Amino acid sequence: MELNETTGIQKGLTNYGDPEFSIYIRKAFAKAMGYNDDELNRPIVGIVNTFSGFNSCHQNFSDLIEALKRGILSQGALPIEFPTISLGEIFTSPTTMMFRNLMAMDTEEMIKAQPMDGVVLLGGCDKTVPAQLMGALSADKPAICLVAGPMITGNYQGETLGACTDCRRFWREYRAGQIDEEQIELINNHLCSSTGTCMVMGTASTMAALAEAMGMMLPDGAAIPAVMAERRRHAEATGRTIVTAIQKDLKPSRILSKRSFENAIRILMAIGGSTNAIIHLTAIAKRIGIQLTLADFTRIGDQTPVLVNLKPSGQYYMEDLAKSGGIPTVMKELEESLHRQETTINGKTIGQNLMEVPLPPKWQDVIKTRSNPLLTGEGLTCLFGNLAPNGAIIKRSAASPHLLHHQGPALVFKSIEDLHNRIDQQNLHVTNNHVLVLQNAGPVGGPGMPEAGYLPIPKKLLQAGVKDMVRISDARMSGTAFGTIILHISPEAAVGGPLATIQDGDMIELNVNKKSIQLLIDDNELRRRIENIKLPKPHFQRGYGALYTNHVEQAHLGCDFDFL
Ligand code: FES
Repeated sequence: MELNETTGIQKGLTNYGDPEFSIYIRKAFAKAMGYNDDELNRPIVGIVNTFSGFNSCHQNFSDLIEALKRGILSQGALPIEFPTISLGEIFTSPTTMMFRNLMAMDTEEMIKAQPMDGVVLLGGCDKTVPAQLMGALSADKPAICLVAGPMITGNYQGETLGACTDCRRFWREYRAGQIDEEQIELINNHLCSSTGTCMVMGTASTMAALAEAMGMMLPDGAAIPAVMAERRRHAEATGRTIVTAIQKDLKPSRILSKRSFENAIRILMAIGGSTNAIIHLTAIAKRIGIQLTLADFTRIGDQTPVLVNLKPSGQYYMEDLAKSGGIPTVMKELEESLHRQETTINGKTIGQNLMEVPLPPKWQDVIKTRSNPLLTGEGLTCLFGNLAPNGAIIKRSAASPHLLHHQGPALVFKSIEDLHNRIDQQNLHVTNNHVLVLQNAGPVGGPGMPEAGYLPIPKKLLQAGVKDMVRISDARMSGTAFGTIILHISPEAAVGGPLATIQDGDMIELNVNKKSIQLLIDDNELRRRIENIKLPKPHFQRGYGALYTNHVEQAHLGCDFDFL
């Protein structure tokens, strides 16, 4: 590959008023790191290393980087790793969602500011993949995703365990008094058995699958477990591929189109993926001027069966999906309904990649066929109504069928704190017919739209054997959770959305078949209540929190900043 002043170490010079001097001292400082002139004349591949001691999911990155570097060097380019923010889901307060846009800005600016010709986005944990894609699309240099890969499963007394669907299931059983303190502690030892991302179809697995489906990751990259040798071989192939992508100038704007995102939405539905992906895909697409609406998700959702039998919608784990052929097999099964002419990062089209995938699936209990799906459609359903003028969503595949059409009185919690204080009180007036309502847990109100939409079932109902209730909020829900849960109500309560007007005892009707969520009060009364909403005080007065509060968009727009 020819080097010119817009490639390699000569790219994006630091401004000292004399470009030749800038190159001269840049080379001198690069030599301080041990590089020689030959290496410095090569194209440079940046590796975004999001290893962190506060991110349990990314602990295999040194292995992956070693393999990546072998691949990059074998093609004559120079790999250079650099850090950005890392968002470990379980270790970040108040929620990683609040920092997704900060990570996207960090990623974009560091890709643009440093001398690299292309970049490997090494991520995995929930918000890292969408943040990296948002940043890389805005930077628009050739980029490829490489994820940590899912954890392998654990085992407790012969039962397979996985984070975090089983974390929630056992916690619910503990709260209901069905297992004791000693058992819940023992189970804790086996929920996360290795490094890697959550091994159910949560947000991390979903976003990895969608990166693959839209062509920003090599085929088969989403499902290989973190600790398998195959993941290192995939990393080495990723290193080789980014160099050829640089040679072909395959930058994101030349790969991604509205059709690529429609492919991703179809795969989202087929895998019974995380509700969080709706927000993330919308935000990613907007970075290259593509508008995705809830109507797009509804239209494709209605036409697409759920094929993948993974928790929380189904029964298996990511390692089983990998053994069954992974995302390529899911895509092959849906081949006729995918846009097959779209380009991918390896230079081939989706259709060309799928020519190499055998059918039928190796293990048809994990990846079902279209003729025998897990569910016939509507893995995710978008809802509208006077409670959600700009939309809300429900993960139908994780909901209880008998609650999909339900009418019941509201029991309102004004905030997450109010919920925690009262939900388990013995004198709480609640029946299984109630609709639990959580206000002020959206992008602004949460703050950061926490995964609080999985409102716990009140303890006294749990102990009476109630497993599910209708729950509604402007919050998100972990992709690993399940239940009849309406999320992402837009506009949110904290900016004056109708959700803020609900009072205890108001009747609410959910009708998922009609895609409707309604507060059953008179229109004039609803208008009067909206005019009288008192907005909560902002959480932040300064710093990133204030920037976030002043500029974050609502859920149906992807929660990006309005200036990005
Ligand atoms: Fe990182 Fe679940 S905590 S993916």
